[in-house]
Amino acid sequence: MSDFFCHHRSIVFVMCCLFVGAVVVSADESADADTATVSFWNDVRPIFQAHCQGCHQPAKKGGEYDMTSLENLFKGGESEEAAIVPGDPAGSNLIGQITPSDGAAEMPKNAKPLTDADIAKITKWIAAGAKDDTPESARRRFDSDNPPTYSAAPVITAVAISPDGNLVAVSGYHEVLLHETDKLIAGDATNAGRLIGMSERIESVAFSPDGKMLAVAGGSPGRLGELQIWNVADRAMVFSNAVTFDTCYGASWSPDGKLVAFGCPDNTVRAIRVEDGKQVLFNGAHNDWVLDTVFSVKGTNLVTVSRDRSMKLMEVATERFIDNVTSITPGALKGGLHAVDRDPAKDELLIGGSDGVPKIYRMFREQDRKIGDDFNLIRKFPEMPGRVFDVSYSKDGKKIVAGSSYNGNGHVHVFETESGKKLAEMKDVDGAIYTAAFNPDATIVVSGGFSGNLLVHDAATGERKSIVVPVPLDKTQIANK
Ligand code: HEC
Repeated sequence: MSDFFCHHRSIVFVMCCLFVGAVVVSADESADADTATVSFWNDVRPIFQAHCQGCHQPAKKGGEYDMTSLENLFKGGESEEAAIVPGDPAGSNLIGQITPSDGAAEMPKNAKPLTDADIAKITKWIAAGAKDDTPESARRRFDSDNPPTYSAAPVITAVAISPDGNLVAVSGYHEVLLHETDKLIAGDATNAGRLIGMSERIESVAFSPDGKMLAVAGGSPGRLGELQIWNVADRAMVFSNAVTFDTCYGASWSPDGKLVAFGCPDNTVRAIRVEDGKQVLFNGAHNDWVLDTVFSVKGTNLVTVSRDRSMKLMEVATERFIDNVTSITPGALKGGLHAVDRDPAKDELLIGGSDGVPKIYRMFREQDRKIGDDFNLIRKFPEMPGRVFDVSYSKDGKKIVAGSSYNGNGHVHVFETESGKKLAEMKDVDGAIYTAAFNPDATIVVSGGFSGNLLVHDAATGERKSIVVPVPLDKTQIANK
């Protein structure tokens, strides 16, 4: 999935480079924030992003207060008191809210107070006139009144089908779009909802086991990593957690729907409790980006795959690393692992990665590890062209689907789980494939990738049933092209 950095086109790519630049500056300047003037963009915004914006953003406004635009940040919320008065920290309601008394502060709500150093930075910035040094490139903001517009279809990095089969969630730019499956099959591109959040790039979408919620992992490169939880029926954000300063990947739900795990480019895997958004698991056993996650049948264990080529097993309750599921012999695995899914009924794991060969592994080893072993391997499927970016089981576990990409050409194959036999190849795939999923009865496969088109195929015959641009394209701009 690292490849998305080069595959993302036009504005996304340009913005990505600018943000990376901004972070380099930040590292230099924040060190001497005490002596130099405090920058909003480099010093203050990251504090708000990490501790406040999860509850104070357009999709979720605690106390009617949105802290993601400067205008709203200054104005304040339901109290109608100015949150920030430039030049006057004592007259700024926000300072009163974050200043602890007897070790506790009003904000961040239900959390530890900010550090003295952070409070000092915010106070200093306000005292010096609360200047806005946001780079021009980062001034664009999106919400339901001001949705993203598209001159071209953005790369599709993630699709998921709801457990009842009725809805397809697909990644857009700064949003996840919901589509009714029946309409998609009929070639109707009208969406059934737009979940617009802070992250410009969406890497992963996953419905909760009961289908009522949607987990979204993504971020803004070099600036923000984020996990969002949405209420599907209301199209409303339940919460957003800012984690790290780069894009998050591979969200998955525990079978009881209580936890969501996801991977981060700081090489960690984390899980949060959906009830209160609190982080309950943190593990740094991988030594490269963690790209996908899945829980065991009982939810007691978590499995992760990474660009470091390994699949690892964790214990949820203790947050501990338990075992390398794949062989750790150097050279045994070629290239990184991109995707993992679990058999719906048993603790067997389907993986896909750079070697193009989907494989099934047993989660818990039945023999002691010996150097060079690969005892947990159960089955290899026929090699696919290029790298496999996504794999998933059908709901009954009898079939698997895998999507791959080779030299810009995409491939989507359906295999029989038990025999490893290839059952069908999807036809007329129009570019590199990054994501593929079955509907619940495995009669269709929905896939997407570089072209930005969402493809619907008959899973048995491979015939293409429809091809749809899932985002609303700006027609005037197309005409101008
Ligand atoms: C867990 C959610 C949550 C977090 C995190 C959070 N807030 Fe709040 N905030 C709220 C809610 C809800 C209110 C409404 C008042 C209340 O319920 O206490 C509020 C109210 C406020 C207000 C008053 C707005 C007004 O004019 O009425 C300010 C200022 C504020 N928050 C600042 C912050 C800052 C600064 C941070 C980060 C350091 C932060 N909040 C973190 C939930 C949160």
